[in-house]
Amino acid sequence: MKATPKRAARPGSSIPGATEAARPGGVYGPDDLEQLDVDALFAGRMAAGPFRAMGATQWDQRASRLRPGELVADDYTRALLQRLEPDIAASRSLLDVGCGNGNLLLALAPRLAWAGGLGFSPAMLRRLRARAAAARLRGLRTWLRAWDDDWSDLPVADIVVASRSFTTPHLTPALRKLEAHARRRVFLTYKTGPAFLPADLLRALGRHGLPGRPSYLYLLLALHKMGRWPQLEFLADHRRPTPLKNLAELRQRVTWSLGPLATPDRRALKAYYEALPRDQAGRALFHNPFHWALISWAPGP
Ligand SMILES: C[S@@+](CC[C@H](N)C(=O)[O-])C[C@H]1O[C@@H](n2cnc3c(N)ncnc32)[C@H](O)[C@@H]1O
Repeated sequence: MKATPKRAARPGSSIPGATEAARPGGVYGPDDLEQLDVDALFAGRMAAGPFRAMGATQWDQRASRLRPGELVADDYTRALLQRLEPDIAASRSLLDVGCGNGNLLLALAPRLAWAGGLGFSPAMLRRLRARAAAARLRGLRTWLRAWDDDWSDLPVADIVVASRSFTTPHLTPALRKLEAHARRRVFLTYKTGPAFLPADLLRALGRHGLPGRPSYLYLLLALHKMGRWPQLEFLADHRRPTPLKNLAELRQRVTWSLGPLATPDRRALKAYYEALPRDQAGRALFHNPFHWALISWAPGP
């Protein structure tokens, strides 16, 4: 990854009363956790196990299938917007990393002098621009960029948000990249559990007990090792069971997470689908609620 630009001094990057002794590499030596190579552990955990990150093409496909309102008016988005409120009220600019089709940007941009988002899915960015045009929102900036691309030409914003989008295996460099573009504060949400699929489905496919995605605790440790004071909160997403169009839709969702399924898995998935409860129209109801860790911190030197 390339270096990111220098910023002006940022407010709120230290905690009154915090002492050098409390920081890694202070007068005491590093403790057991601080000695861990958290970047190597994180990257190893990302590469291990049955789960894979979706590529830009898959996000493009997802963009074309988004139902109106999907990923918008859910508990999660509402809770995150509410949590961001005091910081947005005190800010003039926002950079949204992995902005998707713009749920946060569309809500927040009218309050700010400028707002922009980056993502690696052209179709998602097109959706965002179309939604912005429909809402007569001018001046929203977009950049077609992946986590591991060069961001050195991107502006510094008061607030940087990375919501449900932290997919890079390069942990500390990515955290540094976020804060290199933040003047006041970074907000990052990261899934609490090890998978994006419900436990009973994983069990049905014989995928339970395997290593999952790395947890948010790796991020906290990396930030601690950077000398930051991250704040940890949780956002609940109590999404209700949603009807599936058919078995193919469920298979698609599973494939996003696990990759192509072999014949025995397809059979097991069919059995799982057939056993799902039905709505009044006879459609299978799929329930996949998950909660998010919200980690925020003020950038430091
Ligand atoms: C679950 S969506 C979240 C969208 C939005 N941030 C929100 O919370 O509503 C994840 C977004 O991250 C983007 N994304 C995933 N991996 C990425 C990567 N490696 N580089 C850039 N964007 C990525 C996807 O294109 C997608 O728009």
